[in-house]
Amino acid sequence: MSKWLPGVTSISYGGDYNPEQWPEETWAEDIELMRQAGVNLVSIGIFSWAMLEPRPGQYDFGWMDRLFALLHGAGIRVSLGTPTASPPAWFFHQHPEARVVTRDGTVLGFGSRGMASPSSPAYREASVSIARALARRYGNHPALALWHVHNEYGAPVSECYSDDSVRAFRRWLQERYGSLDALNRAWGTAFWGQRYGEWEQVSAPAASASVVNPAQRLDFARFTSDALLQCFIAERDAIRAECPGVPITTNFMAGSCPAVDLWKWAGEVDVVANDHYLDAADPCNHVGLALSADLTRSIAGGRPWILMEHSTSAVNWQPRNVAKRPGELARNALTHLGRGADAVMFFQWRASRAGAEKFHSAMLPHAGTRSRVWREVRDLGENLARLDEVVGSEVRAEVAILWDWESFWAQDLEWRPSVDVSHRERINAFYDRLWRDGITVDFAHPESDLTAYKLVVAPASYLLTKRAASNIRRYVEGGGTFVMSYFSAIVDEHDAVHPGGYGAPLRDVLGLTVEELLPLRAGEQVRLSGGVTSDVWSEDIALEGAEVLATFEDGPAAGKPAITRHGSAYYVAARLGVEDLTSVLRPAYDDAGIVPSATPEGVEVMMRRSADNDYLIVVNHTDRPVDLPVTGTDLLTASTSGSKLEAGGVRVCSGSGQAMR
Ligand code: GAL
Repeated sequence: MSKWLPGVTSISYGGDYNPEQWPEETWAEDIELMRQAGVNLVSIGIFSWAMLEPRPGQYDFGWMDRLFALLHGAGIRVSLGTPTASPPAWFFHQHPEARVVTRDGTVLGFGSRGMASPSSPAYREASVSIARALARRYGNHPALALWHVHNEYGAPVSECYSDDSVRAFRRWLQERYGSLDALNRAWGTAFWGQRYGEWEQVSAPAASASVVNPAQRLDFARFTSDALLQCFIAERDAIRAECPGVPITTNFMAGSCPAVDLWKWAGEVDVVANDHYLDAADPCNHVGLALSADLTRSIAGGRPWILMEHSTSAVNWQPRNVAKRPGELARNALTHLGRGADAVMFFQWRASRAGAEKFHSAMLPHAGTRSRVWREVRDLGENLARLDEVVGSEVRAEVAILWDWESFWAQDLEWRPSVDVSHRERINAFYDRLWRDGITVDFAHPESDLTAYKLVVAPASYLLTKRAASNIRRYVEGGGTFVMSYFSAIVDEHDAVHPGGYGAPLRDVLGLTVEELLPLRAGEQVRLSGGVTSDVWSEDIALEGAEVLATFEDGPAAGKPAITRHGSAYYVAARLGVEDLTSVLRPAYDDAGIVPSATPEGVEVMMRRSADNDYLIVVNHTDRPVDLPVTGTDLLTASTSGSKLEAGGVRVCSGSGQAMR
């Protein structure tokens, strides 16, 4: 049982706090209301560079000193931001070359945030200096609990095509390939006469007349993630040197920011922290929330993690910013908690009056304390305070979905067999099916140890290295059940088709080869035996030992296998909807000995375990009461839990074991 924050024994509760947007008289009221809401942790300073260093090298810490003192006096701990996502105007005035250049050559101006080039030496130096100055000033402050470096690396911009970036990319390539010959081979530059004769000719893959070399673009995506990571490491090391012992993190956006390879990043932070915002257009967006939480836990390697940001109600940056319904705030928070979060934080404490985010919800909304949102914020604070014993408990999963940022980068490039094929759509579909079946899912890198899982699912794993294929083979040979969907194992790490053809590295495992890809026309549907229909995709499969579970009945692959099984390895060549995915997942569950849960539809059940206890977190997403066959003590009400869960209600039951299974 591990605690993410030494000495903290409760669920951390609070949010981003930006008091510099308000006169200081407001701060006392903030602190009093935080006390009423049960807030015990706030993130400050995230966008305060211009206030902390109004002129180069001249610091003004007075206001932050007073803020620290006030928070400390109220027993509220501080997650201290380094403000490097938003350099001051003076920085860009002095260093115009540090501005981000987009792929089409646009130079991004001042007036927003996230607009410094990660590869600019001037930016690196200035960001490390302000981080070090903060560490010297506050490193020993008793209120300091956590360092929150930067904000959401990779958003709103990630790639930069400035001169500094091009030079840094070249150095990165020299390190990766050692010689130009190796680079030419890896990038397949014999194609379209792209062969390079000197390193100086190699550049970032800026916009060109037609499609740019996909291997070059894939490497640039890797370089971009690494360049951002180097920015984090530089700040982290400067802080650590001054302030050893206080954990350091940065807020990830697991599942929604494709620019950073979080498998690589996770090992560099002391605790994994995540930001998640609902997709307002999706009526079942709580499933996407669960996916993000499961992905975060997986990145954290099974350790508890913290939810650094979510919203109390509507955000302001989607086309239609739908407010949360009554009770949704608690349902969302407890789903994060049920999937491993040991902190529940929001963006932000008090709604901003001015600026681009004034229509974003907050813990303390514009309407003040006479509001539903405030009451729900206060109630949630009260409820979380009853869950101390849950802190540090773990979540276990028997199923893993493969997830690889490198594969996404490659697959999202242009000129693929069909614009309708999306790795993310397939991951969401399989996840959705597993969620509806009440099965907890981890995400795993294809080259990671899979032996702990009974079932591994690979949805549209386009880029799959030979190493990953060997890993999967070992897993299946060791008795694991494996399900792979179409358009998988197509290319290697350089986006080059595997010798032997599509899927070749797993040919023996799946007992088949894919002879030809047969994408469908827009809107075209095909029928499969067993009464199932699909769209988007079909394939011409030649069997090499696999048995056929379903066949295409019409369309370009009529008469050919659509779903196959080879021992405990399943392959599905059709795009099945969430309902129809049972045709491949049910037999796989049976093979793997996995029993789908019998919970009522729309009811989410999560389990955390500690050495001494099990905690069942139950969330009713429906608008009707449901039967709750759970025994044990409801920690939220401190009573024996009843047999009904009210519409939209939540429970945290202690000592209830496997009652729902
Ligand atoms: C996050 C960001 C916050 C705030 C929030 C609004 O991505 O980290 O600073 O902008 O979005 O939803």
